[in-house]
Amino acid sequence: MKIHILGSAAGGGFPQWNCNCFNCHRMRTGAIRATPRTQSSIAVSMDKRRWVLFNTSPDIRAQLEAFPAIQPREGKRDTGITAIVYMDSQLDHTTGLLMLREGCPHQVYCTDSVYGDLTSGFPIFRILESWNGGITRHRVEFDQSFTIAGIDGLRITPIPLTSKAPPYSPHRDNPHPGDNIGVVIEDLDSNKRVFYAPGLGVVEEHLLPHMRAADCLLVDGTFWREDEMLHAGVGTKPASAMGHLPQSGPGGMIEVLEQFSKPRKILIHINNTNPILDEDSAERAELARHQIEVAYDGMELEFS
Ligand code: MLT
Ligand code: MN
Ligand code: ZN
Repeated sequence: MKIHILGSAAGGGFPQWNCNCFNCHRMRTGAIRATPRTQSSIAVSMDKRRWVLFNTSPDIRAQLEAFPAIQPREGKRDTGITAIVYMDSQLDHTTGLLMLREGCPHQVYCTDSVYGDLTSGFPIFRILESWNGGITRHRVEFDQSFTIAGIDGLRITPIPLTSKAPPYSPHRDNPHPGDNIGVVIEDLDSNKRVFYAPGLGVVEEHLLPHMRAADCLLVDGTFWREDEMLHAGVGTKPASAMGHLPQSGPGGMIEVLEQFSKPRKILIHINNTNPILDEDSAERAELARHQIEVAYDGMELEFS
């Protein structure tokens, strides 16, 4: 299987349009060794022609333009996008579907909880019905692996996890299973597995066997510290209230990842306030000491 990182930043991207934090400011003034990043989404393929998107970010148009393997090949209208899987109903993970309206109907895989949000609070599935029927929805149910028509040899297993429903959702402070999922993406030819969870607030016991068995962990890299928004002077919400496990500190992501010896470890969905974006930072060096990588836009992973 091949994974192409379309976008690696958290909501807002890096730099964020209205943000003047230590990172965003230095990015604009050229005072930091760092790479701009678009909002997170990945594309997965077996044949490098037909792709499954995991989430559709508001930056999708630029992401597709930067990725020739997913662009039209035949006929007047064409795409390499075969299906879309949603991990949650967050704005930074879903808004891009509106930009794909010319290609409706799309094959969309999501839980009931996500389907509920995207047909009510942020009704993009309803809006798109006026574009050639909008979407064809496939229900995702926990621990029920599924395959996608047109993508032979790829199996996806959805795993419930604790993160947060979006601020607009009635589930924000009333969590339901299915608000957020992680997935094990499995190459059935090579038996290689990737565990993908861009929003991960708590690494619960039931995730451990999946993470231990994986060849690669592509997980939540939003924040370095629990009080990062406050510390950066741009907000007040702690990481945990936003459904993200910070990297540093006791029980943080670095410590959690330490217990896994097999998988390659990569952080994704990096918030613009996170000091790991600065390639010369002490925090980035600490990740390197723990053999933890930081995803970037255009990063390619191949497991065969
Ligand atoms: C998050 O990951 O916490 C959200 O993307 C935040 C947001 O929607 O601004
Ligand atoms: Mn997000
Ligand atoms: Zn910023």
